[in-house]
Amino acid sequence: MGRLNSLIPTMAKRALITGITGQDGSYLTELLIRKGYEVHGLVRRTSAVQRNRLDALDLTPAQREKQLFLHYGDLSESSGLSRLAHRTQPDEVYHLGSQSHVQVSFESPKYTFEINASGTVRLLECFRDCNKPIRFYHASTCEMYGRPEESPQNEKTPFRPVSPYACSKTASHFLTACYRESYGLFACNGILFNHESPRRGENFVTRKIARGVAAIKRGLQKKLTLGSLETRKDWGYAPEYVEAMWRMLQHDKPDDYVIATGEAHRVGEFVEMAFQIVGLDWREFVETDPAEVRPAEVGALVGDASKAERVLGWRAQTRFQGLVKLMVEAELQALSR
Ligand code: NAP
Ligand code: GDD
Repeated sequence: MGRLNSLIPTMAKRALITGITGQDGSYLTELLIRKGYEVHGLVRRTSAVQRNRLDALDLTPAQREKQLFLHYGDLSESSGLSRLAHRTQPDEVYHLGSQSHVQVSFESPKYTFEINASGTVRLLECFRDCNKPIRFYHASTCEMYGRPEESPQNEKTPFRPVSPYACSKTASHFLTACYRESYGLFACNGILFNHESPRRGENFVTRKIARGVAAIKRGLQKKLTLGSLETRKDWGYAPEYVEAMWRMLQHDKPDDYVIATGEAHRVGEFVEMAFQIVGLDWREFVETDPAEVRPAEVGALVGDASKAERVLGWRAQTRFQGLVKLMVEAELQALSR
């Protein structure tokens, strides 16, 4: 665990990450620390249960001691964010913090908007008049395309969001572009399609499936209950996607980029393949529950990341089958431990 609110030494490049306790925050922290950055992370007081990702980071004791610093705060509170910006004086800001669950956003739409959209404007305000030339990354999402009229989707495809989460992210996407255009802030939107890993939150479908399959294989669980198996998603591997975030901020011009694999698969295909890996037939174990079905579901989302490949030299490496395999194997190993 890094130090909280401790003295800040002067070192190489300095990054501030909101959402450091999340899936992407954890991989980005490892990446930046490997690159020699001093990393500062915003953590909520309620984050205790999620600190396991930070505790498990692949860092040496010296890297933890000298390069990782955690600060209490919340995206709902401007004054804390502004103090944090002042105290850390970052070169790069990676704004990943959000209420990131689409289904939850239907239950808590106002809270979702408050944290995601208002939270982004609070953070942007901290850097609007900053005398240091900072670089700002905002975590946009393919959910903004909602039910798109064209496929695959690229940076020019119009947004048609269909959930409170997607509406909040569309607002923060445009706010980020607005601060770039109005105040000359070096600000980029990464329009990331779904990306997964063994560190994915347990209430997202790929991790839920991988955990369920491993537990069923080991005789610890009898059934796996899911919602819609028909939605198609473009799923990539999270460690590769955080590399794309970093590359956006190293370019000489701020811009928006789609990050995706370019392949879409049904949730049902993920289920079938995950059971196949452990030698079981999914039909014997999977039940569907209408409670898991969303009031509005997105259309077939599949990304065209050719701009990122051309300009940033970024391309997804891990493909669907490899992703399912690595997630199921990680869960089997975790159960063995
Ligand atoms: P995640 O695992 O759900 O992490 C979300 C992070 O936001 C956590 O660190 C969480 O802290 C923090 N957070 C939530 N509410 C906060 C608040 N009020 N104040 C400060 N921090 C708060 O998400 P992820 O998968 O890493 O995704 C990172 C970002 O990319 C999110 O903004 C997400 O919406 C976006 N995104 C993700 C994907 C994807 O496929 N993963 C695709 C497109 C866009 P706690 O630990 O305290 O809860
Ligand atoms: N969570 C969940 N749980 N989803 C299920 C389930 C279930 O039991 N059964 C089926 N699904 C379907 C959902 O309806 C959705 O179509 C799909 O599986 C993926 O759901 P999630 O894994 O919850 O991800 P998401 O795509 O809604 O949202 C994630 O990706 C977005 C980018 O597309 C989040 O990380 C968002 O923050 C991100 O923006």
